[in-house]
Amino acid sequence: MNNFRHESVGILVAEQPLRAAVFDKLGIDFCCGGKQTLEAACENLAITVDTAIALLLESDELANDTSGDANWLAASLTELTDHIEQTHHRFLKRELPRLQTLSSKVARVHGDKDPRLLKVEAVFAAMKQEIDQHTTKEELVLFPFIRQLDQGVHVPDAPFVTVANPVRCMESEHDDAGAALMELRRLTDGYNVPEGACTSWVALLGGLAQLDQDLRIHIHKENSILFPKAIAAEGAHASVSHGTKGR
Ligand SMILES: [Fe+2]
Ligand SMILES: [Fe+2]
Repeated sequence: MNNFRHESVGILVAEQPLRAAVFDKLGIDFCCGGKQTLEAACENLAITVDTAIALLLESDELANDTSGDANWLAASLTELTDHIEQTHHRFLKRELPRLQTLSSKVARVHGDKDPRLLKVEAVFAAMKQEIDQHTTKEELVLFPFIRQLDQGVHVPDAPFVTVANPVRCMESEHDDAGAALMELRRLTDGYNVPEGACTSWVALLGGLAQLDQDLRIHIHKENSILFPKAIAAEGAHASVSHGTKGR
């Protein structure tokens, strides 16, 4: 508990996924901003760190009575990459095309009533294109490499030299997705359903809110759990290889 203050918010959620709800309530970004300490995050938002710690402890007490999410910190790299693909990437493949169709339809029909819908359509379309390319890179290049690291397979002359290079690129793309979500939230007043909204409009806002939640958990698992573990595994692998060579 004493460590809460100086621990990164990403690790705090990795240790206990239900803490994400506390950070959501306080407006603390544990996804793209996962590397900041709890103290720094509170300072930025003018929240007392003691208040945040009290809420986290309350949430942890509740977590003892519920199963919560799995402890991904203890999972292997293969289990983590499989889980991310089968849960979060599958969710995106199902939801992104559906929400794109909905956002275009709602913008076309109601854009004159609320011009922000035209912006929602454009921001969403650009975000979808980037996420599609991003997940393809993870599935075809980065995750297979990480699974090989997990199996102790030496990959000579990996095209990116070290796993830290594609990780940096993925983290930067996560920041872009995080910024797009912020923009969508702003344009829809926090996915708030306006009076007189039609069924498609309601469905779009509900879908965007769900996407926002899932994408932030997805990015959190990659930034705060998968990537640091992969970098550590590569380091351990390299020191074993050097040790063997030196003999
Ligand atoms: Fe991903
Ligand atoms: Fe990613």
